[in-house]
Amino acid sequence: MSADKLRLGVNIDHVATVRNARGSAYPDPIRAAKLAEEAGADGITAHLREDRRHISDADIEGLMEALTSPLNFEMAATDEMQAIALRHKPHAVCIVPEKREERTTEGGLEVAKEENRLAHFIAPLRDAGCRVSIFIAADRRQIEAAHRIGAQVIELHTGAYCDFHAEGKFAERDAELERLAEMATFADSLGLEVHAGHGLTYDTVKPIAALPEIMELNIGHFIIGEAIFRGLTPAVQEMRRLMDEAREGTN
Ligand code: PXP
Repeated sequence: MSADKLRLGVNIDHVATVRNARGSAYPDPIRAAKLAEEAGADGITAHLREDRRHISDADIEGLMEALTSPLNFEMAATDEMQAIALRHKPHAVCIVPEKREERTTEGGLEVAKEENRLAHFIAPLRDAGCRVSIFIAADRRQIEAAHRIGAQVIELHTGAYCDFHAEGKFAERDAELERLAEMATFADSLGLEVHAGHGLTYDTVKPIAALPEIMELNIGHFIIGEAIFRGLTPAVQEMRRLMDEAREGTN
């Protein structure tokens, strides 16, 4: 499987982070989502965290009503989140690990450690018509486990690759990129749809976008930050342009 056009999911969590910093009604993440759609996003991603530090339950409701593109609902594997997902039936659900004390999703899900529980957890989501994705590190054991539990999609965690780049550890970055490439090929060979995301920027997106098996990238923090300087529409458009350029092999 290889996508001609790589899809871009824009994660609007941090519009809500800014709103919540003042307890105000603005900036409105739903307005941001609509703008991102118009600017070329193929979908919108939002993570409803257990502590509701950014996206709220009302945001999810508003997104489900307002969006014309698919919502990718990121959530931890808890009963509360499962009930919310089953109520809204978003196009996609991405299961992520979640720790209260973390600043962001630090690692991938340890699918192999709780295979049985996760298999039972995702079954009703799949039955409800949601495309289930599991956020994991580029690790063969986790990919095999995600496949066994019946996930349709894996999202490969690009955080380590991006961190190595930011720290100037280019040998480690390149080794991680190699691992991501190999594991994308492996997951694709099992019939899994492959996505990737976390920490991607204009500087790091192209080598990931160039991996032929990857069908979707989910990008948030950098785009929302960049929107402060150039506006959300150009910030999304530039990411889209770099992804398309990488896909066409012109990088
Ligand atoms: N994909 C997943 C599964 C995530 O948890 C996140 C962060 O919420 C992202 C992508 C987007 O990461 P970033 O905000 O660093 O671009």
